Amino acid sequence: MSDDCVSDARTSDARVSGFPASGDGGNPLRRLSLGELRRRTSAKWRTYPADVLPLWVAEMDAMPAGAVTRALTGALALGDTGYPSSGTAYAEALDSFARKRWGWDGLAVERTAAVADVMRGSVEMLKLVTGPGDAVVVSPPVYPPFFGFVEHEDRRVVEAPLDADGRLCPSALEDAFRRAAAGGRRAAYLLCNPHNPTGAVHTRAELTAVAELANAYGIRVVSDEIHAPLVLPGAQYVPYLSVPGAENAFCLLSASKAWNLAGVKAAVAVAGPAAANELARLPEIVGHGPSHFGVVAHTAALRDGGDWLDAVLTALDENRRLLGELLEQHLPEIRYMRPEGTYLAWLDCRALGLGDDPAAVFLERGRVALSSGIPFGTGGAGHVRLNFAASPEVLTEAVRRMAAAVGR
Ligand SMILES: Cc1ncc(COP(=O)(O)O)c(C=O)c1O
Repeated sequence: MSDDCVSDARTSDARVSGFPASGDGGNPLRRLSLGELRRRTSAKWRTYPADVLPLWVAEMDAMPAGAVTRALTGALALGDTGYPSSGTAYAEALDSFARKRWGWDGLAVERTAAVADVMRGSVEMLKLVTGPGDAVVVSPPVYPPFFGFVEHEDRRVVEAPLDADGRLCPSALEDAFRRAAAGGRRAAYLLCNPHNPTGAVHTRAELTAVAELANAYGIRVVSDEIHAPLVLPGAQYVPYLSVPGAENAFCLLSASKAWNLAGVKAAVAVAGPAAANELARLPEIVGHGPSHFGVVAHTAALRDGGDWLDAVLTALDENRRLLGELLEQHLPEIRYMRPEGTYLAWLDCRALGLGDDPAAVFLERGRVALSSGIPFGTGGAGHVRLNFAASPEVLTEAVRRMAAAVGR
């Protein structure tokens, strides 16, 4: 059975490699054929052998926004490949975007700092408010670097697991906050808003409850909001800094996920009004992180890439629906937590009886690469994360391979 699946998978690129048959200008996820995508050299396309269909790391199979292409090629044409200027263009573009898209006017440019990327920025904020040996609370299952980056800086991870629906759990948070702050130690909470991998978009009520609890236990909140522009129809992104009680928090924003710019790094750290003095103490060296091309590309995306983002969101919404249908049809045992945001689907595969690491089975027998749930921490075993920022054709083929891998 496994041999059949493998040989079948090896030839099945042919099923999807020819599209788009006659162009599909409206859907950025259908502009490149699978053959073209396989020529990419990024992690998504080079980590696994060429017969594997990759739906794992958070990269999109989209052509870039025209605004980004124009900004980067324009800079190259001028040899504009130096250091970033110390200006605030990126933060200003983010501020305008936040006002227009989210109706949020609390992103004060004077309370921002440019950082290399969201994870580096998150860690630098955590270092402003905690010391070595202090605790950082995280809500698993969660983006795996939340564990590694925190521990690398000699902070202790304390878990406040999500509930069974993949949402924040106030009692788990309270328990974790109490443990984290025991003995009067400084402690922080690294929030993920929207949440990777469950795609939960935290509501104003949920975030207000977080702020109340954080203040009750003296916990400082650092909110990773990298997925904020990727909220799908039906949900509404709420900036953590916009809820009452969050004045002493920090958040990290970036155009990197929404415009697929992980290769041109930059991000912005934003301090709430009561955290501005701490942000001002950020070591100068942290500001050396973002690249000039990152700043150029992210600024252009935020300023002029709105239509492209809308097209991507439409395509992702359609893929979210398609994935639900495909799973229902071919793998009904999988519990699909329909995400409210991000392009990541968190799939509970426990009813398939594939053990703790179903991703290993789908890879070996189906030649489809998904993210294993195990590194996402408590609640991750028996789960996989599927990246649906692909064409409908690739998505359909991926589910077909997954089904074939378990004999369907
Ligand atoms: C929640 C979250 N934070 C951070 C990152 C990485 O962002 P960066 O490359 O800007 O550090 C990702 C990437 O997928 C993510 O999902």
